[in-house]
Amino acid sequence: MKSKTAIYPGSFDPITLGHLDIIHRAAKLFDRLIVVVMVNPAKKCAFSPEERVELIKKCTTDLDNITVEFSDGLLADYAKEKQAGAIIKGLRALSDFEYEFQMALTNSKLNPDVETLFLTTKAENMYLSSSMVRQIASMGGDVSGFVPDIIHKQIINRLKG
Ligand code: PNS
Repeated sequence: MKSKTAIYPGSFDPITLGHLDIIHRAAKLFDRLIVVVMVNPAKKCAFSPEERVELIKKCTTDLDNITVEFSDGLLADYAKEKQAGAIIKGLRALSDFEYEFQMALTNSKLNPDVETLFLTTKAENMYLSSSMVRQIASMGGDVSGFVPDIIHKQIINRLKG
């Protein structure tokens, strides 16, 4: 099946500059990109699904080929429902690889019509993560270099202790 739709799934708790870079690059590669906030059972999120969707939408108003949604189902099923041919993942350090590899193989077993494509992160975002942003912001630190300007205040206000 040929598809021009890709999905970029994640917890996005909250979206970082690293995520935003992947969104911009993936949006150039596909006709349609669906950024989907999903449930990672291993994580307890600080932001509600609605907040995470809203934060992503605020940062992506300049892109006209993306939509932002929430799903609490399986990624493989979601890809099938949206007839997406690709799942986009951002790859940072080597430590991401084993976990991402396992998910990619599992998703391709569950839905053989979807390919997982990895985009390497930019060097400056290599060690950037939502959990670091949450930790720094909750302790009153400066996260302005880690999250998009437009949502910076909202994140600080929401997370400061
Ligand atoms: O940003 P994250 O937390 O690394 O993203 C992980 C996520 C949400 C993409 C992953 O946990 C996921 O796919 N959740 C949906 C449920 C699912 O399909 N689980 C099986 C994965 S093989």
